[in-house]
Amino acid sequence: MDPRDTAVLLPQPSGNHVVDGFFDCAEESAHYAFSVQLLLTQHATLVPWQTEGVAELGSGDARAIAHVVRAVPGLRVHGTDISATSVERAEQTISGLGVADRYTVEHGDFFAWADSPSGRDVSTVIANPPYIPAPDADILMPELWGGWYGNDMVLRLLKAGFDHLLVALPSYSDPAATLSAAHDLGYRVANFLAMGLEFGAYSGEPKVREHIASLTAEGHGWAGGDSYVVAVALLTRSPELRRDRATELLRALQLPV
Ligand SMILES: C[S@@+](CC[C@H](N)C(=O)[O-])C[C@H]1O[C@@H](n2cnc3c(N)ncnc32)[C@H](O)[C@@H]1O
Repeated sequence: MDPRDTAVLLPQPSGNHVVDGFFDCAEESAHYAFSVQLLLTQHATLVPWQTEGVAELGSGDARAIAHVVRAVPGLRVHGTDISATSVERAEQTISGLGVADRYTVEHGDFFAWADSPSGRDVSTVIANPPYIPAPDADILMPELWGGWYGNDMVLRLLKAGFDHLLVALPSYSDPAATLSAAHDLGYRVANFLAMGLEFGAYSGEPKVREHIASLTAEGHGWAGGDSYVVAVALLTRSPELRRDRATELLRALQLPV
């Protein structure tokens, strides 16, 4: 495929409302999708997605990655989502776009699948993971809870043993701590795409917004009023990577370096 062919169709605008228990934020999903498409294509020699396929933590309703699978010949994705409503919707999305032969989504916990024999056959994971920081999971969509700092799920992913992670890192979920843990585990930042976003339904929920304000005041991330930055980054343990862009990534997330 021509690497300039990176068009991703935007999902229908959601207006950031919460619909029947599945994640719905059109801009964020489109940014994730576009970034996955561009970074996989750009790093096709480093990341063995063409031979192994990739796994996805938290496919949601699959609107993001189904378009990528349709656009990228040879890309195969095995997704998992813990929300039954999301999986039901994902199946409709996938069959509607005609990519069921290359994109499957199963209901369950990604980490249970990762420990199974099929999980051990894949070295690349893509994820726009749950990253809402809050004192507890009693939030609009409990499946989006990322622990006190919001980075529990990505820290778990880093420790799960995959060589390549293509993950969304929001500026308010202590990305400096995440990148420091990644570095200690042997990951380097191959590249990333960063985008400014307004607080939506999930981060704008009063309990979450207040928690983010205190975390960022304590230096565990960045938010500017109602605004934050999300970067989708490729972290890799490949020895073939020539340049580590961790410092550039921290700057893009508005963090001191
Ligand atoms: C931020 S949403 C992303 C959805 C979709 N990838 C997108 O970007 O539009 C995170 C998703 O992760 C799912 N999730 C949370 N914990 C999970 C787990 N342990 N295993 C699999 N999926 C999980 C949630 O149900 C939710 O659909």
